[in-house]
Amino acid sequence: MKEQDRRDVLAVQGLRKTFGDTVALDNVTFNLYAGEVHCLVGENGAGKSTLIKILSGAERPDKGRIIAFGREYGRLTPGQSLDLGIATIYQDVELVTSLTVADNIFLGHEVRSRFGLIDYPAQNRKARELMDSLNIGIPETALVEHLSPAQQQTLQIVKALHISAKILIMDEPTSSLGVEETRALMGLVRQLAARNIGIIYISHYFEEVFEIGDRITVLKDGQVVNTFDARSTDLATITRSMIGREPALFYDRAPVETGAVILKVRGLGRHGLFEDVSFDLHRGEILGFGGVVGAGRSELMNVIFGADQRSSGEVILNGVPADFRAPRQSIGKGVAMLPEDRKALGLFDLRPVLENMAIVSNEADGLILDTRKEISAVETLINRLRIATAGIWQPIGFLSGGNQQKAILARWLLSHAQVFIFDEPTKGVDIGAKQQIYELMVELARQGKGILMVSSDMPELISVSDRIVVMRDGRQVTTVDSKSITEHELLGSFLGTC
Ligand SMILES: Nc1ncnc2c1ncn2[C@@H]1O[C@H](COP(=O)(O)OP(=O)(O)OP(=O)(O)O)[C@@H](O)[C@H]1O
Ligand SMILES: [Mg+2]
Repeated sequence: MKEQDRRDVLAVQGLRKTFGDTVALDNVTFNLYAGEVHCLVGENGAGKSTLIKILSGAERPDKGRIIAFGREYGRLTPGQSLDLGIATIYQDVELVTSLTVADNIFLGHEVRSRFGLIDYPAQNRKARELMDSLNIGIPETALVEHLSPAQQQTLQIVKALHISAKILIMDEPTSSLGVEETRALMGLVRQLAARNIGIIYISHYFEEVFEIGDRITVLKDGQVVNTFDARSTDLATITRSMIGREPALFYDRAPVETGAVILKVRGLGRHGLFEDVSFDLHRGEILGFGGVVGAGRSELMNVIFGADQRSSGEVILNGVPADFRAPRQSIGKGVAMLPEDRKALGLFDLRPVLENMAIVSNEADGLILDTRKEISAVETLINRLRIATAGIWQPIGFLSGGNQQKAILARWLLSHAQVFIFDEPTKGVDIGAKQQIYELMVELARQGKGILMVSSDMPELISVSDRIVVMRDGRQVTTVDSKSITEHELLGSFLGTC
């Protein structure tokens, strides 16, 4: 971006927002230029989502000013924000999955015929033109429920453009995307910036931040630490200002001696999704599953857990054939699962953190609640994982996205499971808390548990797993020892280029 292009489209000054005793934003000052990608980074609970909710009109600030296109506001209503051309894409995808792609793009702004009826052919045509102009190949008549997470994410952007957004705000847009889809999204974001749209981009992935960011603002405990020019700063500087120390990019885990086979999988398949998968999981082992999104890894885990049924093959748990028909059965036999989809996690939004975290330990044991013990176990985990919460009695829905994710992981650590299935365990989790999660996983291994871990985070896959099963198009292509593989080689085997 050239110096003379620097024109503020949006600025906030002295913004403050509290929720009860929690100060989510404290004297925040921030600005956005036309045509720039301004990244917002910070630990879980730092206030990133709260800031953008104020810009979209979803939350009202206690104090401060918002200046949009030269006009000053004390707060924005959702309607004002839309009229100003501010489009927000939240952490969770907000589309109507039972409608088509085109219908979603025009939802609320339908193209109507002379008689006031929705003109579907015209909507389809316009949707096609809009997507063609961005080189997006999603069929306009497809039902959204049939789209991949990446396509749904892309569709949200198309929808925002249709309402001629001048400012686009994206909250962790790539957290459900794989390597290739992330690349495509980065390309799209660049195209938008080139059209002079100002973009606020929230992410926990620093590769992305450095790849597309023009400037990077670091938030910590609700305050702006600094705004950096992306080209004249580096990863160490950003993470130091974010968490106050240098993080190791690669986790250096302690070795754990592995024992007997705890889970044996032979020729497992589910029609059209994956086939003929075989592996042994040993006690004390962390077995990673790598591949691009759509390789069939999550589908495989769902079948092992009993959430979906197999069409062939067998699963043997502790020497006994297991044919789980429902998660309740596998949980009863000591299998725990952290699914990738946060919405499927079974969070009870309005119930306290304590209850949400302790829920499995009761369910699995069928024991009467020992409240004192439970509270102390939950509090220990809250401290270890640094879960930012106003306390164990706070409703879990009030926690930030990453902190909810950590609470759910902790839920399983309180159970007495023998086999743990972790599908993208650190998705949405900040760089500091990732390390704590890895430590807890290694601790489980040390206790003799077996762990299956699906991950799209390459450094995580290599540094946390003992071995990595690589899957491509529903097939197991190879199993590698993680000590003897590089990130480059692993990516090659995901894509089938080496
Ligand atoms: N509706 C709410 N009620 C109570 N507290 C809230 C509410 N929304 C947010 N908070 C609190 O405000 C703080 C900032 O949360 P926010 O969601 O902005 O964090 P974040 O930076 O987006 O984190 P993450 O990376 O985990 O998404 C957190 O302590 C959170 O618990
Ligand atoms: Mg957030």
